[in-house]
Amino acid sequence: MKIIIPNDVISVPMSLKRNQQLWSGCGDMLFINHDVGKLAIKRTKVPKQVTHSRISQSAVALKRKAHSYQVERHFYKYHACELIPPCNTASYLGEGGANGMDYIVFRDFSSQGFVQVDKPSEAQIMAVIGWLAKFHAHFLQSPAEHVWEQGNYWHLETRPDEFKRMADGEVKQAASLLHHRIKNSYWHTWIHGDAKLANFAFNGEQALGFDFQYVGKGIGVSDLMLFITSVLDEQAQLLYADDYLKLYLDTLRVELLGKAASIDVAQLLSEWEALWPVVWADFYRFLLGWKPDHFKINKYMKFQTQIALQQGR
Ligand SMILES: Nc1ncnc2c1ncn2[C@@H]1O[C@H](COP(=O)(O)OP(=O)(O)O)[C@@H](O)[C@H]1O
Ligand SMILES: [Mg+2]
Repeated sequence: MKIIIPNDVISVPMSLKRNQQLWSGCGDMLFINHDVGKLAIKRTKVPKQVTHSRISQSAVALKRKAHSYQVERHFYKYHACELIPPCNTASYLGEGGANGMDYIVFRDFSSQGFVQVDKPSEAQIMAVIGWLAKFHAHFLQSPAEHVWEQGNYWHLETRPDEFKRMADGEVKQAASLLHHRIKNSYWHTWIHGDAKLANFAFNGEQALGFDFQYVGKGIGVSDLMLFITSVLDEQAQLLYADDYLKLYLDTLRVELLGKAASIDVAQLLSEWEALWPVVWADFYRFLLGWKPDHFKINKYMKFQTQIALQQGR
């Protein structure tokens, strides 16, 4: 279905409402009623200088941002349709450009009964873990065509500014090694790349994922790690993160059974399980350069980092 959005509707000035603006003035969400139903339109225009307290904008960061919107458009246009429920994604209805901005048109997921939540139920956490396992199984060993050669927004090659800012120490010294352990994983897939709770909506116990700006090649446990940082506090991570890892790996095993004879499922699972401490250490490395007092830095993250550092010695 080709959706036509009248030019005067798509060209209204960017929203000044904070909750409708995209990250650091890079665009907004326009919500409209259309003949086909309620629409959510993501309009993007990366400015020359973004308005963020902690970033003096380097060319690298701006290029990354602009590219992330192209990646997201490509993903929705060509790949989101490959995924079937319960691996729901926002319903893509088209894209376009007007007055120097680009836009993607979605069905407003609230009209399909999906809502965002601050405190997910246990069943909703399980739904996202199931969603991730299906997503990762689907894109297993896919080449990174028109998506990021390496998915997620914190990997080392995409963060030279933060790396420079990082105080010297064992994590900084091991950064490149950690990065290469992830990058050189034999088994890879496409990761969502920003799989935090805020990028999922729920209809009862069904999850819907959106915000695919950092989708690209990676290892599944990296998405799981970021999701865990967004739903469990330090205490809960210490108690339950390893159980969720096991659940994720078990679910992935079921998803992969019967997919292709060439997949050595046991080898894949053991490779990704061994990289669990490494994805925590890699994210810790990013946080140390981005905001060393970030609330996500906690005992579980540091514990996993120590394991990763010892493995590397
Ligand atoms: N299809 C949609 N239906 C309803 N709301 C949406 C839809 N897509 C995005 N939104 C809303 O817009 C917000 C920002 O969209 P998102 O793609 O996550 O961009 P950002 O990169 O700014 O996080 C989301 O958190 C959600 O509240
Ligand atoms: Mg988002």
